[in-house]
Amino acid sequence: MTIQSLATAAYLVAALLFILSLAGLSKHESGKRGIWFGIVGMAIALIATIALALDGGVHGAMTTIGIVLMVVALAVGAVIGVWRARVVEMTGMPELIALLHSFVGLAAVLVAWSGFVMVEAKGAAQTEIAPEMLGIHHAEVIIGLFIGAVTFTGSIVAYLKLAAKIDSKPMMLPGKNAINIGALVLFLVLTVWFVITPDLWILITATVLALLLGWHLVASIGGGDMPVVVSMLNSYSGWAAAAAGFLLNNNLLIITGALVGSSGAYLSYIMCVAMNRSFISVIAGGFGIEAPSSGSDAEQGEHQEVTAEEVADMLANASSVVITPGYGMAVAQAQYPVAEITRILRERGVNVRFGIHPVAGRLPGHMNVLLAEARVPYDIVLEMDEINDDLSDTDVVLVIGANDTVNPAAEDDPTSPIAGMPVLKVWEAGQVIVFKRSMAAGYAGVQNPLFFRSNSAMLFGDARERVEDILKAL
Ligand code: TAP
Repeated sequence: MTIQSLATAAYLVAALLFILSLAGLSKHESGKRGIWFGIVGMAIALIATIALALDGGVHGAMTTIGIVLMVVALAVGAVIGVWRARVVEMTGMPELIALLHSFVGLAAVLVAWSGFVMVEAKGAAQTEIAPEMLGIHHAEVIIGLFIGAVTFTGSIVAYLKLAAKIDSKPMMLPGKNAINIGALVLFLVLTVWFVITPDLWILITATVLALLLGWHLVASIGGGDMPVVVSMLNSYSGWAAAAAGFLLNNNLLIITGALVGSSGAYLSYIMCVAMNRSFISVIAGGFGIEAPSSGSDAEQGEHQEVTAEEVADMLANASSVVITPGYGMAVAQAQYPVAEITRILRERGVNVRFGIHPVAGRLPGHMNVLLAEARVPYDIVLEMDEINDDLSDTDVVLVIGANDTVNPAAEDDPTSPIAGMPVLKVWEAGQVIVFKRSMAAGYAGVQNPLFFRSNSAMLFGDARERVEDILKAL
C-alpha cells in the first residue's frame, strides 16, 4: 500500500472523527467525548499530512529546510497552545477563540499569497497546474485571500472588543452600508480582472480592501451582538480553511473547513433567532441598522442600596427565589457560594431556580458550565423562555453580575442598541437585588433602567464577597 493511499484512508477516518466530535459537542453529557474525537482526528490528520509531505506530497518532496521549519513550527505552536489553554480564565475564552480565528484567517491569506508566488516564481508553463486550470487557480487564490483577510482583521477587532481593549459600542461611519456593498462590488471586479490578468498589484489591492472590510464589518457591530459575531467569525474561519484546502489540494482541509464553516453559520443563525436579530443584517456588519439614538451610560434617576443582612432577611422570608447570573458571577467566581445559598434555602423549603439568558456571560452555555461546576442540580437551571412567565410570581430575584441580559430598555426603548433582544423580565418580581460593584453599564455600554425601579435595590461589591456575607447572615 502506498503512503498516498494510506493517507487518504487516514483522512477519511479523521473526517469521520470530526463529524463525531461536532455531534458530541452538541450536548453537555457528550461534550468531553466530542473533544477527544476532535483531538484524535486532528492527530491522525497531522501525521498523515506530514507523511504525505515527506513522501512527495502534491508539490514534490519537501526539502530538509522545509522539514526543519515544519518541525519547529509544530513544536512552537504546540508549546504556545498548551500554555495558553492552561492559563486562560474561562472568562477569557471568547477573546482567545477570536484570536485563534484570526490565525486561521492569516494562514489562509499566506496560503493564497504563496499560491500566487509559486506560479509567478516558476512561470505559468513550469507549474504542475494544467494551463486550462490556471484561471481556476487564480480565482481560488483571490477568493481564499479575501475570506482569509476579512476573517483576520474581523477577528482582531472582535478580540480587541472582547478583551475590552477598544470600546464595544458600534462604530457608525456615515454610509456604512454603502461602504460594505461598494467593497464587495470592487472585490468582484478585482476577482474577474485578476483571473484574466493575474497581476501583483490587483492582489495587493484586494488584500488591503479585504483587510479594511473585515475591520469595518466587525467594528460596526455593537457589544450586545458580539456572541453572533464570534460564531460568524468561526464560520468564516472554516470557509477560509476550506479555501486554503482547495489551493493546497488537501481534501481533509476542505472537508474540515466546510464542517466548521457550516456549523458556525448554523450556530450564528440559532443565536440570531435567540437574540431576535436578523442573520443577514449581522453578517453584513449591521446592515439596515441605523445608528442607535439612545444608549448612553448616564444614570437615570435615584437608586436604592441594601446590605447583605437585609438581603438575607428577604431570602429567609421568601417562598420563591430566582437567581439570574451573568458575566459578573464568572468574574467573581461566585458560583460556589451561590450554590451553597441555593442548597440552604432549598433545605428550608424555598423554591429556588435559576434563569439563564442564552447570551449571559461571554460564551454559549457559560453560566450552565459554572453552575454545573458548583454542583447546582440541572433540573432547577431553566432557560430564559422557561422562567420568564414565572417571574411575576417570584418573591425575590437575585441578579448576580448580570446587566444587559436583564435590561428592560431592550423592550421599552426602540432606539437602544439592544432593542429587540429578548431579556429576563426580572423587574416583574416582587423584589430585585442587583449584585455589582458600581453603577457602570453592561457589555453593550448602555445604562440599565432596572437599577432605578422602585422594586430594585443594589448590593454593591464583589459578587463572591457579597454572597458569602449573605451566607454568614443566613
Ligand atoms: P454584562 O452585561 O456583561 O454585565 C456584567 C456585569 O457584571 C457588569 O455590569 C459588571 O458591573 C458586573 N461585574 C463584573 N465583575 C463583577 C464582580 N466581580 N462582582 C460583581 N459584579 C461584577 O453581563 P450579562 O448580563 O451576562 O450580559 C452578557 C453580555 O455579553 C451581553 O451583552 C452579550 O451579548 C455579551 N456577549 C455574550 C457572549 C456570549 S456567547 N454569552 C459573547 C460575547 C459577548 P460592575 O463593573 O459595576 O461590577
